[in-house]
Amino acid sequence: MLVNRPRGTNDILPGQAEKWQYLEEQIRQICFEYGFSEIRTPIFEQTELFQRGVGETTDVVEKEMYTFLDKGETSLTLRPEGTASTVRAFVENGLYGQPLPLKLYYLGPMFRYDRPQAGRFRQFHQFGVEVLGSRDPLLDAEVMIMAMDLYQRLGLSNLELHLNSVGCPVCRQQHRSALRQFLVPRENALCDNCRRRLERNPMRVLDCKGEKCQEASAGAPVTLHHLCPDCAGHFRVVREALDELAIPYVVNERLVRGLDYYTQTAFEIIVPGIGAQNSIGGGGRYDGLVEEIGGPPTPGVGFALGLERILLALELQGVELPTGSQLNIFVCTLGAEARKTAFELMTRLRRLGLAVNMDYLGRSLKAQMKQAGKSGAQFVVIVGGEELERQAVTVRDMTAGQQTEVALVDIGEFMAERLEGNVRLFSRRRALKIK
Ligand code: HAM
Repeated sequence: MLVNRPRGTNDILPGQAEKWQYLEEQIRQICFEYGFSEIRTPIFEQTELFQRGVGETTDVVEKEMYTFLDKGETSLTLRPEGTASTVRAFVENGLYGQPLPLKLYYLGPMFRYDRPQAGRFRQFHQFGVEVLGSRDPLLDAEVMIMAMDLYQRLGLSNLELHLNSVGCPVCRQQHRSALRQFLVPRENALCDNCRRRLERNPMRVLDCKGEKCQEASAGAPVTLHHLCPDCAGHFRVVREALDELAIPYVVNERLVRGLDYYTQTAFEIIVPGIGAQNSIGGGGRYDGLVEEIGGPPTPGVGFALGLERILLALELQGVELPTGSQLNIFVCTLGAEARKTAFELMTRLRRLGLAVNMDYLGRSLKAQMKQAGKSGAQFVVIVGGEELERQAVTVRDMTAGQQTEVALVDIGEFMAERLEGNVRLFSRRRALKIK
């Protein structure tokens, strides 16, 4: 019997994989434009990193981590997100010694043990950016603009950028007592989880998705009303920068992100109408995290976007991504001698950077032509028969429906001319030499 893939994971099959590649190309391009360099960290980390970084009382750490002991009895965890790892790498490799701010991005799988549903997986992929080493509120605006810019380039529409400020440890202290005062009399209405968190981290109650907890916390004091002058000023500059660039957003004073490291700016990008899992990205500032993880005090701001959710939203909005996986040439053969020539010719054309394929199942010429049609190849090269005796092949332009005879020695040049955009520059001269 077949052993199936684990629940909440996906196989990305041909056809779909090209969409991922396109998405990844757009991401790398925008990172280049915004001045971000890639960082690649391990898929698993010591468990303590996430306990300290993400926060002991978050859902992610309490319920959703894939944690295991390795053979050396070390507790390891498959990364549930990328910020803690990036900050760990920043500190461990002394990157704070480089000119700051440092702008890093990552792209890869994350793991959360949650109940799978549409748009929610146990292995999913994030594109994230982290800017380390500056408190400038313009950077908060910059990362939001970058995320919105990417969505727009991909063709997504009707997005909502939700924005909040969760304050700093100073104003949060004030908010915390006001919130506790509000919640304690309603304690019995809260779920067990929230009752437990009420003491240590009452803000988490605002993030609880339970209906009873949401009802009980309706009208609770929000951080925005308790901001210290510094945080209020920061929030104002962030908003002004977004206004200046006419980036629409809504101030959502109940937006509490699911991770504990945020200070000041917190944001989320929502696509209405794609179901319960409608957040396609989120982020914010985390000025205390680097220190928490053992580094020198260093502010940070960033985001992560869920790639599965972006692709889902694109599909639901009817946006087709260009996949560009078209075969350039299909080589058809007639007879054993022709197969040898065809194989050699195919390799020669591939070395020019062209996508070329041939039949490997001994099909009839008619069946090969059918296969060529299905493959979407722009040209078919027929090797065999009388033409081969003349050291020539037949080239059929599938779009124009025209056929020409081309001498074998000229085929590289002939194809290179017609498929100019596909030919690798460095090999063009070689192509002409190879003949
Ligand atoms: P997050 O909000 O936990 O933030 O995740 C960011 C995005 O990852 C979500 O908006 C969603 O699109 C996607 N995502 C999360 N969980 C799942 C899941 N189970 N299945 C599919 N997609 C999912 C963070 O992870 C922070 N590290 C973001 C950040 C970076 N903040 C500052 N810098």
